[in-house]
Amino acid sequence: MAANPLQRLRSIKVKFSIVIVAAVAVTLAVNEIGILLNFVAVFRAGVAAVIALGMVQLMSRGMTSPLRSMERAAASMAAGNVGERVETSSSDEVGRLAVAFNLMATELDEVDRQRRELVANVSHELRTPISALRATLENVVDGVVAPDPALLRTMLAQTERLQRLVAQLLDLSRLESGNTPLHLLRFPAADLLEAVADESALHSPDLTFRVEVNPPDLALDGDPERLHQVFANLTDNAARFTPDHGEVVLTAQRKGQRVVFEVLDDGPGIPAESIGRVFERFYRTDEARSSDEGGSGLGLAIARWVVDLHGGRIWAEQREPTGCRMVVDLPSQ
Ligand SMILES: Nc1ncnc2c1ncn2[C@@H]1O[C@H](COP(=O)(O)OP(=O)(O)OP(=O)(O)O)[C@@H](O)[C@H]1O
Ligand SMILES: [Mg+2]
Repeated sequence: MAANPLQRLRSIKVKFSIVIVAAVAVTLAVNEIGILLNFVAVFRAGVAAVIALGMVQLMSRGMTSPLRSMERAAASMAAGNVGERVETSSSDEVGRLAVAFNLMATELDEVDRQRRELVANVSHELRTPISALRATLENVVDGVVAPDPALLRTMLAQTERLQRLVAQLLDLSRLESGNTPLHLLRFPAADLLEAVADESALHSPDLTFRVEVNPPDLALDGDPERLHQVFANLTDNAARFTPDHGEVVLTAQRKGQRVVFEVLDDGPGIPAESIGRVFERFYRTDEARSSDEGGSGLGLAIARWVVDLHGGRIWAEQREPTGCRMVVDLPSQ
């Protein structure tokens, strides 16, 4: 099909004006020629109308076709085919609408991909502890193993892991849906970090947890419970990767209008290729994945949501010679 001569114009109004002016000019010209050739008025009008309509058809070709393909694509997307796209070479409003439509379709496609991935991940994460629990219970029922206290403790641990996973998933979905308003308060940073350190010391008695706050009376604006959850997640990770009898350091300092927190450990650190990905849901480095210890890779995703809701930033850095530095940068007056 020949390219539309008006395709390069960026305004549909200008296109229509040109088409109308051209149609009127053709009609007039045909009329004048008809008069010279002594044709009757009805015949002149008929010929002028046919030529003008043909010209309008030719000139407006491609002006409405993106609209028709968008209609088809929208119907196909509604039926579940999110891979659908619209082809357009026009640069007017309809062309730009088609580009915006394609952008929306790409985003929907991505959301759909993430949803499928999430369902697959959730199913996998739930299936693993459930299968383990079921296998153990089957062995007990078949009389292969005796239900002694050690076995019951393992089963209890598996159940607790499941419960924690479900609670984390619920929490993440609430955060993502925006249904969790923050309860903002002004409170001392030292209280927050010391509460987290004390709690972690109970879980990891052979590690030392040190808190450094500068200035010591540093206060910040935030949701204390949510931020407690963030630093508990970061400290839990740090403790898990710290060698026996090692130390985890939690710091807070004022930097202008911001409060910058760090959680430092001297474990192996996060490999460079994973450092940007550890905040994704279910992401674990290979080392963490291959070990039975640790969780499902949701702790940092939750932390990032909470920090984002506070208008702050969170990132991971590698420490020299070894270890991980988690930085949380929050705005605070
Ligand atoms: N301090 C750290 N040192 C080394 N690797 C870390 C550290 N913190 C996080 N990681 C890596 O990032 C991954 C994701 O951490 P995240 O807290 O999201 O999940 P998790 O600890 O595996 O599980 P969950 O927190 O849900 O119980 C971890 O599995 C680990 O591979
Ligand atoms: Mg974690």
